[in-house]
Amino acid sequence: MRKKQLSRREFMRAGATGAAFAAAPILLEPPLFAPVPRLVPPSDRLRFASIGAGIRGGELLRTALACPGTEMVAVSDLYDPRFTAAQEYAQKGLSITKDYRTILDRKDVDLVIVATPDHWHAKIVEDACGAGKDVYCEKPMSHTVEDGFAMVEAAKKYGRILQVGSQRCSSIVFAKAKEVYNSGILGQVTAVEATMDRNTLDGVGIWPVPPGASEKNIDWNTFLGSAPKRPFDPMRFFRWRAFWDYGEGVAGDLYVHLIAGYHYIAGIAAPPSRATTIGGLLRWKEHREVPDILWTLYEYPALRVGVRSNMNNQSPDTTIFFGTEGTLEIRNGQVTVYPQNIQPSPENYPLESWPSAMRAEYVKQWHEAHPRPAPADFRMIESTQTFAAPPGYDDSTAHMNNFLESIRSRRPPVEDANFGNIAAIACHMANYAYLNKTVAIWDESAQKISG
Ligand SMILES: NC(=O)c1ccc[n+]([C@@H]2O[C@H](COP(=O)([O-])OP(=O)(O)OC[C@H]3O[C@@H](n4cnc5c(N)ncnc54)[C@H](O)[C@@H]3O)[C@@H](O)[C@H]2O)c1
Repeated sequence: MRKKQLSRREFMRAGATGAAFAAAPILLEPPLFAPVPRLVPPSDRLRFASIGAGIRGGELLRTALACPGTEMVAVSDLYDPRFTAAQEYAQKGLSITKDYRTILDRKDVDLVIVATPDHWHAKIVEDACGAGKDVYCEKPMSHTVEDGFAMVEAAKKYGRILQVGSQRCSSIVFAKAKEVYNSGILGQVTAVEATMDRNTLDGVGIWPVPPGASEKNIDWNTFLGSAPKRPFDPMRFFRWRAFWDYGEGVAGDLYVHLIAGYHYIAGIAAPPSRATTIGGLLRWKEHREVPDILWTLYEYPALRVGVRSNMNNQSPDTTIFFGTEGTLEIRNGQVTVYPQNIQPSPENYPLESWPSAMRAEYVKQWHEAHPRPAPADFRMIESTQTFAAPPGYDDSTAHMNNFLESIRSRRPPVEDANFGNIAAIACHMANYAYLNKTVAIWDESAQKISG
């Protein structure tokens, strides 16, 4: 349910009308499929299983259960207490297993939600597609560039709906930003800045190891999967984000949300051509391998983009598009459009060095040559405007609903495998540049990053 896009002229008029209310954000309207209870015929019920029911997997299974017409039938995880937690949320006995393949063998499972650590995404997604299941795979889609292309191929080969979990792609806030961007009122946009910072143990992913966690209730060997073999280490199991073997550091954790957001708004459908990164591990040094500050500059054909994640200061999550006629800022769940002052005027700065008579003559002639235009002719954005999601709006719910609608309609998902793959490649490029202290170059024909 996308609203009609505004033309430049319509947006300008809306701005002029709204000028008196500029201080109050305009509330955005969520799509009709918000999860209000409604009857869904049994034939339309979607039976799902969760593979990986930890922090995000738990959130997603609750989100999916709250959507109309769903039923949870099974859960796969490697840590026993996750089964109990999942059953508490599902409020019924679930079939449980440490081997996700037994779920894929079941004929009564329509879709699986994959929320394991990143190094497991590709194998599970490929197996699930091969078994005829539709898949919601958490972001970042891939752990390596090769994994991503294999997942795209699997979804295509088996004709499955594969949606990646960057919820910004379903957000009404980002949809409004996209509408503004597409209307052209920002003028020529050449630069984007996007930041996502954290400054707490929770934000950085330094989470407690649950009491009693041991090899008795954790399947450590399966967790390692394709990663190098190591003795049991609960830090690695519960804080896997801090280690390169299982995640991609802050790039895979946080950059990917920023990248998916601006790719979605600007309609970017290919990885950046180049990336250069600085970063470091400056503070959280206990057992962490990955940097706690990362700063990347990306080059796209018509855009230059700066992305930052700093784990040593909490600033609002922000994405800013800089245009010649306006600035678009997404911050704290709101979109604000600011005008640029582009009223034509004589070039005053150099004129100060001219003799006064020469200056006066030039200014007089300038004004004769540039009769003052009506505001509508030189300024597309009349006043600052802010749009906000209504209280309680949740983009993860919207993203899950979009996925379920896509399964029912067999229409492509809002964030398909190609989109997820490209966003993940940009993350891999950031890390490649950081780890190799080089400019990362995307080689489209070889589908590889080189330095
Ligand atoms: N979209 C978002 O906003 C968002 C937020 C948080 C996490 N995530 C993503 O969700 C995924 C999971 O992150 P998390 O924070 O929930 O991690 P987590 O460690 O809390 O949970 C992962 C779970 O996967 C299980 N697991 C590992 N390998 C498995 C396997 N082979 N089969 C079955 N279960 C397996 C583990 O036992 C664990 O319970 C990651 O890809 C992460 O990037 C996305």
